[in-house]
Amino acid sequence: MDVRSGTLTLHSPLRISVESEWRDVVETFARDLTASIGWDVEFVDGSTTPDVIIRKVNDCGDEEYRLSIDEEVTIDASTAAGVAYALTVLRQLGPNALWSSAATLDTLELPRLFIEDGPRFAWRGVHLDVARHFFDVETVCRLIDQIAAHRLNRLHLHLNDDQGWRVEVPQWPLLGSVASVRRSSPIGHEGDGLDDDVEHAGCYSAPDLEAIRQHALRRFVTIVPEIDLPGHAQAVIAAYPDLGNGDEPLEVWARWGISEHVLNVGERALTFAEDVVRYVASRFPGSPVHIGGDECPTTEWERSELAHAVMAELGFSDERQLQGLFTDRLTAALRRDGHEVLAWDEVMDADVDQDVVICAWRHSVRGRLAAESGHDVVMAPMQFLYFDWLSSDEVDEPVALAPRPAVTTWEKVYRFSVIPPGLDEKYWHHVRGAQVQLWSEYIATREHLDYMAFPRTAAFAEVVWGNPESLDSFRPRLARHAQRLAAMGVHFRPLDR
Ligand code: ACM
Repeated sequence: MDVRSGTLTLHSPLRISVESEWRDVVETFARDLTASIGWDVEFVDGSTTPDVIIRKVNDCGDEEYRLSIDEEVTIDASTAAGVAYALTVLRQLGPNALWSSAATLDTLELPRLFIEDGPRFAWRGVHLDVARHFFDVETVCRLIDQIAAHRLNRLHLHLNDDQGWRVEVPQWPLLGSVASVRRSSPIGHEGDGLDDDVEHAGCYSAPDLEAIRQHALRRFVTIVPEIDLPGHAQAVIAAYPDLGNGDEPLEVWARWGISEHVLNVGERALTFAEDVVRYVASRFPGSPVHIGGDECPTTEWERSELAHAVMAELGFSDERQLQGLFTDRLTAALRRDGHEVLAWDEVMDADVDQDVVICAWRHSVRGRLAAESGHDVVMAPMQFLYFDWLSSDEVDEPVALAPRPAVTTWEKVYRFSVIPPGLDEKYWHHVRGAQVQLWSEYIATREHLDYMAFPRTAAFAEVVWGNPESLDSFRPRLARHAQRLAAMGVHFRPLDR
């Protein structure tokens, strides 16, 4: 960034010249401008002097842009995403009103400067668990807006768990009617043993998913749907008992934790997994798809005649290997359908195709090992990037899943190294980027979601874009950014709390 002297003053209507293929990007910006400060945008060609000139060049990378503010605003980019980021930064350079809803502003003053910018990492993600608590389409779209404002570009949706299934699948109707309804939820810490006795339900229809997808497309955010199997399957088995390993009827689990009830390894269960994953993937054409694969206890398989017969047939010596049946089957099916496949790091405990991208959550070391063995990795280590952890050590911090000392302050997030410590430079190209996790056992409302996400996600955004400086340099910029968050209506955790 090169700061020049003086400012540029703009008025409504803002006259913008842009190629027709990028008009959609500018229309999104125009809607933001109208919604925030009531301004209009006029598309003009070269014959009128534009306020903003957007030029297509061929020397910018995928998400890169150059932004110059002088007698007018000039944006150079090679991709629509580059234009979108330049326009986001333009909003950032203006007053906070540009992030609000329904403010008024007669003139807009922008500092004269030149910026040349682009991200260090391609995968800059936020994960949201909609299984433990369901979030409606509007809340998800609102989160997408927040993600895009921080120049992040992936929203990983965790769509099922022991405590609820959140997407209607036509061939398996009981997922929507049975597996998506939980009779109650724990109150306070799991160990307290208290329940709220309030039914919790929610499930996305196909049009809901399409609304989310379209909204995300406009914000250059890729939705990464996750169906987590064969573990975390108690809600599925509550709806379809023959997919489980026992005879006892199960309910959609009303406790937090890891249920022992997993899918059996018979053909019908494998077909089920393939069916539902392919269906959900088909709602997001071309998107990467996450197949879960974490925390799959083998207790039931150890007692199962069927599991032992399958092991004998395949020459397996350890129940752990059975999980590989699901990983292989789902990976092959999704590949055929044109999707890239991601999974949690436990899939490496059984055989897993080299092309599966590993989400390293248990520790950065898992990411290092995955990269060293040739996998691409998305870093998600819980010690830094699980935002269901406490935001501070203070005694009045709201109940969170992990107890003290599992605390993650925004300062700690800011010091996170995306490249796993100890990873030899020759493997760095395997590190796609990183994502924060919003597990929702204790996040039931939009306000609480905001509180857990921010300001930590703002710190993360700078880390993953790739230019974190010192905490001392970030602190005042974060204080300034907090005013922007306030204008956006984000219920962030106050910085001086
Ligand atoms: C996980 O936290 N079980 C991925």
